[in-house]
Amino acid sequence: MAEENYFSNSFEYKNGILFCENVALEEVKTWLKNRGIKRVTPAFIYSKSQVETNVLLYKNALRHLERKTTLNYALKANMNPGLVRIMKTLGCSLTLVSGFELELALKLGFTPERIVLNGNGKETWEIELAVNNDCLLNIDSLFNVKQTIGVCRRLHRKARVLLRINPDIDPMVHQYNCTGKNGSKFGVQEKYFDDVIREIKSEPLIQLVGIHCHLGSTITSIAIFRESADVMLQIYRKLKHEGFEHMEYINLGGGLGIDYTKHVAVTTDPKILVKERPIDIPTPADLVKVVDEVFGDENISLILEPGRSLIGNAGILLTSVLGVKHGEPKSYIVVDGSMTEVIRPALYSAYHHIDLAVPSQADDKHKMLYDVVGPVCESGDFLGKDRYMSAPHEGCLMAVFDVGAYCACMGSNYNMRARPAEVLISGDKLELIRRPETLDDILAPYDI
Ligand code: LLP
Repeated sequence: MAEENYFSNSFEYKNGILFCENVALEEVKTWLKNRGIKRVTPAFIYSKSQVETNVLLYKNALRHLERKTTLNYALKANMNPGLVRIMKTLGCSLTLVSGFELELALKLGFTPERIVLNGNGKETWEIELAVNNDCLLNIDSLFNVKQTIGVCRRLHRKARVLLRINPDIDPMVHQYNCTGKNGSKFGVQEKYFDDVIREIKSEPLIQLVGIHCHLGSTITSIAIFRESADVMLQIYRKLKHEGFEHMEYINLGGGLGIDYTKHVAVTTDPKILVKERPIDIPTPADLVKVVDEVFGDENISLILEPGRSLIGNAGILLTSVLGVKHGEPKSYIVVDGSMTEVIRPALYSAYHHIDLAVPSQADDKHKMLYDVVGPVCESGDFLGKDRYMSAPHEGCLMAVFDVGAYCACMGSNYNMRARPAEVLISGDKLELIRRPETLDDILAPYDI
């Protein structure tokens, strides 16, 4: 698909009814019921076309560069194999953070040599798995080099490693999403470079092939990426100068934000708290351009490893209204989705747009402010606060937007809630890419 075919409307309203590609979301309920599924909402719905568009926005920007480039999908953003397969078909590799993620990648047939295994705390078996498969391994600390040396000697195998740098740059995001500043547990700080480098140099089985950094997630300023490219280039040159002849890669991590306010209608109504779309988020093309400018003629292979910007806007949570509860000072729309599916509002005070997915049939639909909350027994269980919307009828379908990244995969069974169905839509085709959990699934590891 060409960049100009950018499908910005994978989720679009027609006459008040929300569609994903060519499918009205209310039809998904019937489709799931016809497959014998009793609990049809909440459900994650993904648009295949949106995933493809997101990948191609990166790919189209990267293919113009006169350097080797790799686009690694950060699988932690959403590990559903039904989605990861699409990434593979489109030519992505993967950045992983655990041994099970690596096992999944191998099962799905990704080329191990192009996979990056990252992590500030790797277990020995995870390092062994990566070394045995000749993956790229990120080194995160002095102890991590020693661990890796131990594994290489035992297995009599070489490890190709990237050194993860903590460049001490503020990504200007929620503190839990900040990973490349002093005070973060990730990467090696400048002060400790020499110790780590000395250790790497001491072992011929460790081959330093590049450096890595990841500043954080939800970044909305291109200047921040320019700064990190700049700092990384200086470190790259220094290491090359020190005789690391196999140095080839700079991996700049992921972190590009998405526009969570895209679906917010701009309004002058004083009651609406989010009045305008506040940010102009850089595109993948902006990011690639700035990095390439900084690297200039230097012969560097570039790795980018986005998660959110590849999958975030490709998913919604479809949820049904259980009831509307009026109160002082707050009124609530209680839905069957909750923090067990979408924890980002509770964890990071993140904004996810919420709207009715079908027109309201309530007797009194007048608009007012509601908190949209789930059934979980926690006051932190909310999906959105102070949302100005029409009163929905009981059973009304609602959509929580932009939940493709860091939602299903951060879900839990808290309150013994079952993880919901996940459906992939492509044109007018539906595919169940995860069935909802049953009570037996939840109880399986226990002795009852
Ligand atoms: N590379 C590394 C080393 C990472 O740690 C991450 C994300 C990525 C790439 C992908 O970053 P992205 O492009 O998705 O921003 N749960 C949080 C996000 C945690 C991100 C963890 N690392 C959230 O829901 O906002």
